[in-house]
Amino acid sequence: MFTELVCIVCGRSYPPGDHQTCRVCGTDGILDVRYDYDAVKPVLTLGELARREHTHWRYLELLPVRDGVRRPPLHVGWTPIYEVPGLAAAVGVRRLFLKDDGLNPTSSLKDRASSVGVAKALEFGYAAIACASTGNAASSLAGMAASVGLPAFIFVPERAPEPKIAQLLMFGATVFRVRGTYEQAFELCRTACERFRWYNRNSGTNPFLVEGKKTAGLEIAEQFTTGQMLDGSLPDWVAVSVGDGCTIGGITKGLHEFKRLGLAKALPRMIGVQAAGASPIVTAFAAKADLVPSGADTLADSIAVGTPRNWRRALAWVRASRGAMIAVPDTDILDAMRITARLGGVFGEPAGVAGVAGLRAAVTKGLVAADATVLAVITGNGLKDIRSAVEAAGRPHDVRPDINAIEAIVRR
Ligand SMILES: Cc1ncc(COP(=O)(O)O)c(C=O)c1O
Ligand SMILES: [Zn+2]
Repeated sequence: MFTELVCIVCGRSYPPGDHQTCRVCGTDGILDVRYDYDAVKPVLTLGELARREHTHWRYLELLPVRDGVRRPPLHVGWTPIYEVPGLAAAVGVRRLFLKDDGLNPTSSLKDRASSVGVAKALEFGYAAIACASTGNAASSLAGMAASVGLPAFIFVPERAPEPKIAQLLMFGATVFRVRGTYEQAFELCRTACERFRWYNRNSGTNPFLVEGKKTAGLEIAEQFTTGQMLDGSLPDWVAVSVGDGCTIGGITKGLHEFKRLGLAKALPRMIGVQAAGASPIVTAFAAKADLVPSGADTLADSIAVGTPRNWRRALAWVRASRGAMIAVPDTDILDAMRITARLGGVFGEPAGVAGVAGLRAAVTKGLVAADATVLAVITGNGLKDIRSAVEAAGRPHDVRPDINAIEAIVRR
């Protein structure tokens, strides 16, 4: 029940169709997908949702994908929420929950977006899909495209880590390693999409992808509303890591839509978390000013974004939720990796657990009260970045095959 696309800068409206950004405002003019909520409301009731498949397609009326369009068959979404009392005590809040989006098919929240991107490429009749990325967006696109037999072309910068390239190649994507920066890889991808008529799954600016990410917000709202966790209420706060800003913008939009359908009452406030070495959105939030590009120096590679593309929408949504933006040093992110795994049993990559690190910092600063209830979204699995995991977790004990050697260590 997708009605139009509206430019978030100038307000120009575009009919549903194959658009990337506003024709007048250029790449700044991100298009927001609008729906006829009055038409969706009588259809998407809690009773109807209870009968639907447990994937993110359960919210089809709130996605820009027509019923009947071919979609990747992989199981995306409806990821679990766990309560983690030990971790709650360590970060200093009354109750803490984790939503583990590392459990998606290619192990990150990006599958929610790539599945919608691939469905749109098929709907628009493209013979191939492309993106420029080193990380989860690329591996997710490669996996989703492989599942429907759509060729994928991925542009990676020269410094892209070998394990991530291996994942792309394994899914059969054609990988172009561009001798240049990420920006150059991004531009080359855009030009190639125009020349060869490939669909551009460009994370920051494609209007449809963020709608896929939105389903994490819809799920959070539905899981708490229908679950016993907080007697049908939503948590006071939701913490999410921020790179380009699409994820937090999308999740917040999803939460608001659930309320708009009359299905939730009070909504959570959002905590957006960036790494201190790449925190231009935190700076813009604090200064109440436009974004100034920053450096991008952090081990959390998935959020190492100095020139985010969706900052306007991220800031608007965080403000609308009376939320906060916070930056954390890499040492805090490594610490969050350890405690989330050891006290919660969930192993996230650095960007995956940055929300936990930011929550802890927000409690220390008094932004989040000690009696608060909080959900942190774990956006990516820890096996994605083994180097950081080894750095966070340390080394094993090297021993002789001798019980006395074991005893010496156990008794220490
Ligand atoms: C694991 C993980 N967490 C968080 C993010 C941040 O999302 P966004 O760039 O939409 O702000 C990303 C995006 O690359 C990611 O891969
Ligand atoms: Zn515009």
